[in-house]
Amino acid sequence: MVMKNNLNIVVLAAGQGKRMKSALPKVLHPIAGSPMLHRVLDTARALQPSAICVVYGHGGEQVRAHTTDETLLWAKQEPQLGTGHAVQQALPHLSADGVALVLYGDVPLISANTLAALVAAARADKLAWLTMTVANVDAAGGLGRILRDQKNHVQAIVEHKDATEAQRQIKEINTGFLACPSTWLAGWLPKLKNTNAQGEYYLTDILAMAVAEGRVVETLSPAAEWEVTGINSKDQLALLERTYQLEIAKRLMTDGTSLADPARIDVRGTLTCGNGTISDVAIDVNCIFEGKVHLAPNVKIGANCVLKDCNIGENTEILPFSSIDGAIIGKGARIGPYARIRPSSTLADNTHIGNFVEVKASDIGVGSKANHLSYIGDTTIGANVNVGAGTITCNYDGANKHRTIIEDNVHIGSVVQLVAPVTIGKGATIGAGTTVWKDAPGEALTLNRKEQTTLTNWQRPTKLKSKQE
Ligand code: UD1
Ligand code: CA
Repeated sequence: MVMKNNLNIVVLAAGQGKRMKSALPKVLHPIAGSPMLHRVLDTARALQPSAICVVYGHGGEQVRAHTTDETLLWAKQEPQLGTGHAVQQALPHLSADGVALVLYGDVPLISANTLAALVAAARADKLAWLTMTVANVDAAGGLGRILRDQKNHVQAIVEHKDATEAQRQIKEINTGFLACPSTWLAGWLPKLKNTNAQGEYYLTDILAMAVAEGRVVETLSPAAEWEVTGINSKDQLALLERTYQLEIAKRLMTDGTSLADPARIDVRGTLTCGNGTISDVAIDVNCIFEGKVHLAPNVKIGANCVLKDCNIGENTEILPFSSIDGAIIGKGARIGPYARIRPSSTLADNTHIGNFVEVKASDIGVGSKANHLSYIGDTTIGANVNVGAGTITCNYDGANKHRTIIEDNVHIGSVVQLVAPVTIGKGATIGAGTTVWKDAPGEALTLNRKEQTTLTNWQRPTKLKSKQE
């Protein structure tokens, strides 16, 4: 591997996560749409390290199978004897002359900026430790406490379970993140003892070792508490999800997007709005954005829409309860309410897709409309086409899918079936109720002749009398 900056990152992900009560390993539970471990790895990659080593153990094969990055190094920890023991398993992968940074797979939202500050301190030959002061003692419950001397110099970390009542009153806690020259870790870790309340080899004990050796210890705090919030249970996961979603909502509003209620939006991926200068995008309540979504200036999204991997053009309006997945939609379009746009669809400017219309793998030309109750699948529609209510493209013969081509200025009446493969020529009109199974020529009316009969002596059935009556 090319040595970029000799930074080696160790990600601890071997713990079981008992309190999640789940078959899925803890680090694979998603926050804002991606597994916690993937978020930590993305942040790690942002620091452009020369290597990232994941310490895995519990549910290990599942963790590895979910993580496709070929450049990752893996260190198995079996059995799991504590955080110090975990980092020790990664030691053979760390380059001796580099800086090591330890991250936690269950603390998903740590930012690259905060970590960069830790690494910078470690490069200056310091043991850099991330701490935080939490105002209420409840929040510190279960966490390691930072012990300082009279001069406010860090002395050690004591784990909650090992702490005295007096130590438990300390409000400064260990967030778990640290960085230092790798050789120091190689010296300290083998000396760890597990004579403590949990019978584990605590990584945190190296702090006292560093102090005893006279090393300079620098402590830093993150910009926001949520960056260092760890997840041990479903309720903590849900709480952090809401906190993070609110952060995303604030960022969107700062960039000029209007949210009907910042507490009722979910971004499970990346949502970008506007053109960098103005947004004027407005999003109503209960919308979910997945994957990569871009909304151009002045797009309006109605309530209860789900948008995934799509690009919506300027001035387009998505009306309530619509689902859009894998589509590019042009300017000035009107989609929904209750529209479903499926992958590989391109809707040009000024298109209208109305209620209960499903569009799949289709291209719809400028100004074309399908306003009511239709299925448009594997279809190419030209410009200024009107598709009548209830029209269905019959794209599947039971074995293969076939395409329907509808050229410019076609008018299709209501409840038409287009049996693909079939082409409707430019300017054609298709009569209501027609089953089109042969190509229909342009500039002409195509219909199926049907007879309309009236039976005057026919009687509408009446309800049979039941026996009891
Ligand atoms: C740890 C710290 C504590 C800190 C807290 C912050 C220690 C001893 N304690 O406690 O000071 O306040 O984090 O969240 O380090 N893991 C392994 N192998 C193991 C044990 C753990 O890989 O043998 C991994 C877990 O998967 C997890 C991380 O290390 O990602 C932290 O382990 P956890 O048991 O949750 O430590 P805490 O009790 O939270
Ligand atoms: Ca934890």
